[in-house]
Amino acid sequence: MLRRTALILLGVAAAGPAFAQAYPSKPITMIVPFAAGGPTDVMARIVGERMSKELSQQIIIDNVAGAAGTIAMGKLARSTPDGYTIGIGHLGTNVVNGSIYKNLNYDLQNDLAPIARLPSNPLLVVTSNQIPAKDLKELVAYLKANADKISGGTAGMGSGSHIGVLAFFAATGTNYQLVPYRGTGPAVQDLIANQIQIMIDQSSNSLPHIRAGKLKVYAVTAKERNAAAPDVPTTAEAGFPGIEVAIWHGLWAPKGTPPEIIAKLNAAAIVALRDPEIRRKLEDLGQDIPTPEQMAPAAFTAYQKAEVAKWTPIIEKAGVKIE
Ligand code: MLT
Repeated sequence: MLRRTALILLGVAAAGPAFAQAYPSKPITMIVPFAAGGPTDVMARIVGERMSKELSQQIIIDNVAGAAGTIAMGKLARSTPDGYTIGIGHLGTNVVNGSIYKNLNYDLQNDLAPIARLPSNPLLVVTSNQIPAKDLKELVAYLKANADKISGGTAGMGSGSHIGVLAFFAATGTNYQLVPYRGTGPAVQDLIANQIQIMIDQSSNSLPHIRAGKLKVYAVTAKERNAAAPDVPTTAEAGFPGIEVAIWHGLWAPKGTPPEIIAKLNAAAIVALRDPEIRRKLEDLGQDIPTPEQMAPAAFTAYQKAEVAKWTPIIEKAGVKIE
């Protein structure tokens, strides 16, 4: 494996500027670590489609679900570092999983090369319509009184929806059974059907269903209300401060991808997030869009490193680990 990688790296490096100049000369695969239809997949398709226009090359989505994104990131880390395989991830898949999964066969901080930071989603506390609570305080009381009858959906240990649950449990003193899904796209369908009763879900995933009257929303996990849902109180306004979590996203490539190619992909992502139509779509889903400066590979690398320093003690204190 090591020899093969070394030969590939030598090959790609030897090609150098000529290789990067011609890039991309064939379709690019974007690995998405969760099932189709969830917030990560939706962001990948919205941003990826606009990036493909900028790069004049198809971007093909490859949904690689399972184990809260660890399977996908392992596949990305082992991909050929030639710019034709990239991946979208987030706070869970590219920071928190490094603390939770003790036997990852790749190093999140060293086997992947950050390309660009992408938008972040706040989380919404949402339940099926069958839950008889009119606000967050009533919901917390109901959850405590019916803990054995309540199931909540996540996208697996270490997913963004799971990180939200950890913050929610800690701040409210609630606890209920967690049901892992291959993504919160499938999970939210079960929530609408009351197969599960609650989710702490990324805004982009729940907002369309809330607007259609298919889910109840109680609060947003942010310091400020969200412009896409101005009537939804923050968790602090609703009586439970301390639950401020946003699931930021980003693009990564395998370590060793030539910097000229990383720069081309970064430039295409910046153009995509400056497109007024793309911005409107993302902001309508409650998303917060980073600036071009925040999106730069070096700035994103520093941001991810700071997030590792922030979340490692939190996850260790929560005692969440998978050997
Ligand atoms: C999660 O972390 O909960 C995932 O982003 C859900 C998804 O994208 O399907």
